[in-house]
Amino acid sequence: MKILIVGSGGREHALAWKISQSPRVKQVYIAPGNGGTCHSEKIKNISITDINDLADFAGEKNIYMTVVGPEVPLSNGIVDIFRSKNLKIFGPTKNAAKLESSKDFAKEFMVRNNIPTAKYSTFTDSSMAKLYVLKEQLPIVIKADGLAAGKGVVIAQTIEEAYNAIDDMIGDNKNLLKKVVIEEYLVGEEASFIVMSDGRNIFPLATSQDHKRLKDGDNGPNTGGMGAYSPASLVTPDLHRKIMKEVIIPTIEGMSKEGNIFTGFLYAGIMIGANGSDKWVKTLEFNCRMGDPETQPIMMRINSDFMDVLEHAINGTLDKAEIKWNEKVALGVVLAAYNYPEKPRIGDEITQLPTEKEDIMIFHAGTISSNETLKTNGGRVMCVTALGDSVKKAREKAYNTISKINFEGMQYRKDIGWRAIK
Ligand code: AMP
Ligand code: GLY
Repeated sequence: MKILIVGSGGREHALAWKISQSPRVKQVYIAPGNGGTCHSEKIKNISITDINDLADFAGEKNIYMTVVGPEVPLSNGIVDIFRSKNLKIFGPTKNAAKLESSKDFAKEFMVRNNIPTAKYSTFTDSSMAKLYVLKEQLPIVIKADGLAAGKGVVIAQTIEEAYNAIDDMIGDNKNLLKKVVIEEYLVGEEASFIVMSDGRNIFPLATSQDHKRLKDGDNGPNTGGMGAYSPASLVTPDLHRKIMKEVIIPTIEGMSKEGNIFTGFLYAGIMIGANGSDKWVKTLEFNCRMGDPETQPIMMRINSDFMDVLEHAINGTLDKAEIKWNEKVALGVVLAAYNYPEKPRIGDEITQLPTEKEDIMIFHAGTISSNETLKTNGGRVMCVTALGDSVKKAREKAYNTISKINFEGMQYRKDIGWRAIK
């Protein structure tokens, strides 16, 4: 069978790598792919990005199934287009993708369905938003309503920072459709909880923890994610059950009840906190796709054929799906370009990469390969991911590999996994 993967990041490289291991898969096409997805016979880059053209391609090439990585094509309706042409695709419809593409929609949905989340209010008017900030406690969280590649959230420590964020997002804006969500600041530890759903059945993937801030010790601006590991030991079996019961099941059931059936990967960003000895969970965000970089360690821990699960997902039989997880820890460190996340520079040459091994993979993201040279081509350049017997061991392997990689302006966190190690 032939599989099409849509996207160009590290997440898509990891998906392509895993899916291509299936003995049933003859060819994986990745559109558009990157400088790391063009070197194996089984994976081929396709330079198509328009979602209608992708549907034509899938039809012409007799693609068995398409898997979508990023949120933008999903919120532009790629699933609706493929389905209207009877092409198999795994992801949510445009309407269901609103769980990610509109923070306001997601918050209202959570309130309607009693899904725990931070207290909030939504504004289109900047003066009203500022009045609200004055009445609430600091720090306070200001979120742009639309898609922002993980960069639309400001945690304001002062009134001035909050006002600036509001002005940046909706100030002086004639576009009345623009909204800002202002939210109570939650104190706790985050985990990424990703499941697959066929609309009815839910299949949880391994847990993970991302590192959203640019700098060590979780400082600096929010990014798309600077590193991740799996499993997240913080999610104990009890908490796993609690998250399924309070967040995931009500979300899939609520979407269905509202006539907006959710199929695809559902990623809930969960804040876990404590009231004395009682743990609580609150939903920070929904993503309608897998996480990046969480996918990289998660894919490395799958010891069975991931196509089995994808087939159940597309056929509505996820209740029968099985997966074998590697007991080891996988940890990935993102190497980012100069000036990421502000305005990353592209075109820096990347020195020869160390050879990959079964337990160390270099998943590419913002890279481009031409005339035998590899150059940076985006903000997050690659994610070095290693398997080890513990977080510490996986981390050592990842950083050892990174010490052999170099490009001008390379930035990365030196402390991925610090919470687990602590
Ligand atoms: P979001 O895109 O909504 O997940 O926000 C990005 C990141 O901002 C989250 O992963 C958290 O680290 C942080 N964040 C978002 N909302 C809150 C909140 N209410 N309290 C504390 N941190 C938050
Ligand atoms: N790593 C966070 C995300 O994929 O949104």
